[in-house]
Amino acid sequence: MIAIILGTRPEIIKMAPVIRACEKENIEYHLIHTGQHYSYEMDKIFFQELELPKADYNLDVGSGTHGEQTAKILTGIEKILIKERYGRNDMVLVEGDTNTVFAGALAASKLHVKVGHVEAGLRSYFRDMPEEINRILTDHISDYLFAPTENSKKILLSEGFEKEKIFVTGNTIVDSVYQNIEIAEKKVGVFEKFGIERKNYFLVTAHRAENVDVVERLTGIIGGLNLIYDEFRIPIIFPIHPRTKKMIEKFNIKLNENIQLIKPLGFLEFLQLEANAKLVLTDSGGVQEEACILKVPCVTLRDNTERPETVEVGGNLLAGCDPNVIFDKVNLMINRDRSWSNPFGDGKSGEKIIRIIEGN
Ligand code: UD1
Ligand code: UDP
Repeated sequence: MIAIILGTRPEIIKMAPVIRACEKENIEYHLIHTGQHYSYEMDKIFFQELELPKADYNLDVGSGTHGEQTAKILTGIEKILIKERYGRNDMVLVEGDTNTVFAGALAASKLHVKVGHVEAGLRSYFRDMPEEINRILTDHISDYLFAPTENSKKILLSEGFEKEKIFVTGNTIVDSVYQNIEIAEKKVGVFEKFGIERKNYFLVTAHRAENVDVVERLTGIIGGLNLIYDEFRIPIIFPIHPRTKKMIEKFNIKLNENIQLIKPLGFLEFLQLEANAKLVLTDSGGVQEEACILKVPCVTLRDNTERPETVEVGGNLLAGCDPNVIFDKVNLMINRDRSWSNPFGDGKSGEKIIRIIEGN
């Protein structure tokens, strides 16, 4: 049996192609939701839009400190794997670098259940990020390392991982983008909804704990957006992650009224906004990838990235959180030729991963 574990917005979006591949090949699996994300717009909307089956289990762990969340997921997943009699011939699949991923992988590996890590081998080399700890530890307890690119494979090899465990599959985000971009253009109309025109607005997301939980960095990001508005005078659309909303309120940060703070969007609306943006500013991992795939210039509000491929092909620049640097990088990026190539694969990663697991 295969247990597919997910718990947050990006995991739902990036596991969808793997789930679809299981359905297509009639492979039996359990779908386990940890409930790390639970608000409608961070969770259920993606199940509806991507037409995913209801999870067989939902642990409802909710929010909490890293220790609390990780511990609840660990004990919850362990119970399910024991109840469902998972053993050495079975596999748990996790995707990415969240607390759900590490705790799910740890529960499985202690029960000698094989672990498959989708999106293995990413490194920011910045251990202040909780995700860096999660991804390194998960790689180490995995039996199948599904590296999205040759670069991530190289990283794993350089850290001493056995080459027999590493499979370059592309990133399943390409599958999700390709499978949904046309549906998005047909089904949703963000331009009328937000009163904007194609190619004439900036799109922003920010939620990294090391950015938005630190008042100087969050203020720096907002300061950068204000400078950009003063220069370009076009709408800045900012679908706001619940963590960021909480911190803006806590720090009592005042935003320029020209920055449109809106609720987090579903995948279809977000994709349509992203594909037609003049430029994207983000600290998200998935959004850096999507902008690169969609050939939309990206400025990353971080000092490092575990997606260096986006920078190498010419689709992304790192800016950190200094307003003047953000402003300069936007000006550099905005006129760049968009003819870079997508480094994340051909959109068949979900099927490739399932074929590898099935030994075909
Ligand atoms: C988590 C992941 C991060 C990932 C992100 C995707 C970890 C350590 N972090 O960060 O890697 O990039 O998800 O979005 O696993 N909240 C809600 N509703 C929800 C979920 C959260 O209101 O459905 C609020 C709560 O106030 C919560 C806060 O957001 O305390 C942060 O949620 P949490 O899951 O701890 O971390 P994220 O910042 O979402
Ligand atoms: N996303 C979305 N609605 C939004 C913002 C993001 O559907 O309002 C999607 C986006 O398309 C991408 C994923 O969420 O696929 C990225 O998730 P997030 O930024 O929360 O996490 P990260 O990728 O940084 O782990």
